[in-house]
Amino acid sequence: MDSSFNLFPIPITYCPNFISESERLVIFEKLCSLDCIDHDLVINGKSSFEFRDDLLTFLNLKKRIEDKLTNYTDTLKIRSVQITGSWYNIQQKGGYLRDHNHGSNAVSIALYINVDDRSSNLTFRNPNPLVSFFWSPLNVQKVNYSEHVINPKNGDMYIFPSWLNHGSSNINETENRTVISANASWNVTNIEDNHKINILYQ
Ligand SMILES: [Fe+2]
Repeated sequence: MDSSFNLFPIPITYCPNFISESERLVIFEKLCSLDCIDHDLVINGKSSFEFRDDLLTFLNLKKRIEDKLTNYTDTLKIRSVQITGSWYNIQQKGGYLRDHNHGSNAVSIALYINVDDRSSNLTFRNPNPLVSFFWSPLNVQKVNYSEHVINPKNGDMYIFPSWLNHGSSNINETENRTVISANASWNVTNIEDNHKINILYQ
C-alpha cells in the first residue's frame, strides 16, 4: 500500500497559557523595573541578553521550563538539555526583531509576557528557501511556504530548535511588547543519555 510521510520535520512545541494571567502581570511589573540595554537584533527596543543573569530563577520559572524541555527532548528521543541562559526583550512601537537564530545552542524558548493584537509577530523561516520558488503553489500551504507566522498571546510559550531562523515580519505597535527567551544546550553529562549514545554508535 502506498504511504506518504514528512521528511525532515521541524519540531515546534506550543504551550498555551504556560503562565497564568496573575503570574504574567507580576512578571511584567518586575521586568519593567529591571535595566536592559540596546541590542542589534531588537529594533526600537531593549534587551537584557548581555547581562547573563539567571532570569528564570529570579522569576521562579526555571523548573517549569526545564520540565517542558524534558518533555520536548523525551518526545523526540534526543539527548536531554540544560538551560544555559535567559533574558527578556522589551520593544516599543515601530520596532521589530531582525531575523536570527540561536545556533550555538540546542533548544530555545520564547514566552510572551506583554503582547496584543497590534504586536509584532513571531515568524519562523523555512530553512529550505528554495521551496517556495520551485514548488509552484496553487495556494500557500505547508509543503511550499517560505515562512510560518505566529501571532503570540500573553502567557503562551513556544519551544523550537535553536538553529531555526526567526524574527518578526511586521512592525510592532504595542507599547512595551515583552518576551522572555532562554537557550538550552545538550546535557553532555547525562550518564543515561551517554550510555544510549554509546550503544547507538558501537
Ligand atoms: Fe530569538
